[in-house]
Amino acid sequence: MRRGTMPYLVGELVDLAPPGDDLLPYFVTWENDPALLRLSDSPSQAPRGWDGARSMFDSLRSGPGLFFGIYTKGGHPIGYLGANIDERDRRACVYIVVGDAGYQGRGYGTDAMRVLLRHLFDGLGLHRAYLFVHESNQRAIRCYEKCGFVWEGRLREHLREGSTYSAEIAMGVLADEFRAVDPGPP
Ligand SMILES: CC(C)(COP(=O)(O)OP(=O)(O)OC[C@H]1O[C@@H](n2cnc3c(N)ncnc32)[C@H](O)[C@@H]1OP(=O)(O)O)[C@@H](O)C(=O)NCCC(=O)NCCS
Repeated sequence: MRRGTMPYLVGELVDLAPPGDDLLPYFVTWENDPALLRLSDSPSQAPRGWDGARSMFDSLRSGPGLFFGIYTKGGHPIGYLGANIDERDRRACVYIVVGDAGYQGRGYGTDAMRVLLRHLFDGLGLHRAYLFVHESNQRAIRCYEKCGFVWEGRLREHLREGSTYSAEIAMGVLADEFRAVDPGPP
C-alpha cells in the first residue's frame, strides 16, 4: 500500500495522518536525538544529520510500507509510526516513536498503536503484528502489552552499545488477541 492510498485514522488522543512536509523538521530532530537513537535498532548508531534523516523520511514516504505521522487532536506532531506488511503471510512488522518527550508516558503511544492495529486487523484483514524492543525499554514493553502484545522470544546480547551487549525482545499479537483487549474506536 502506498502513501497515496493511506487513510486518515482517528484515535481517542491522537490522529494518524500521512506525513506531510510539516512533519519533516520534527522527524529530523527525533532522528538525531541521542536518547531516541539509543532505543532504536542500532543503539550505537551515530546521528543521521539533516540529509540522512531527510533521505530516510523520503524513503519511508515513498516506500511500500505504511508510514503515518502521530498528531494530537490539536494537530501538533508528536511522533511517527508505521508497518511493513507481508501480504502472503498476512503479518506486519510495526514500529513507533513518540519523539516529543513531553508527550511520552501519557497514553499517546498506546492510543496510536491501537489505532494502527485496528487498521491492520480490521481494515486490512491481517492476522498478526510483531516488533522488536530493547529489554531495558520497560515503558515501550508496557505500552505494547497494553495493546495485547506478548513476549515471543529473547535475543541474547543482540544489541551493542560501546562495549556492552543487551537483549532484544520479540513481541507479537494476533488479531483475536488484540480484539480481546482493545476498548474499540472512540
Ligand atoms: C515507547 C512509546 C511509543 C510508548 O508510548 P507512550 O505514550 O510513552 O506510552 P504510554 O503512556 O501509552 O504507556 C506507557 C506505559 O508504561 C508505563 N511506564 C512508563 N515508564 C515505565 C518504566 N520505566 N517501567 C515500567 N513501566 C513504565 C506507564 O506507566 C504506562 O503504563 P500504564 O498505563 O499501565 O501506567 C514512547 O514512549 C516512545 O516512543 N519512546 C521513545 C522511542 C521508543 O522507545 N520507541 C519504541 C522502540 S521499540
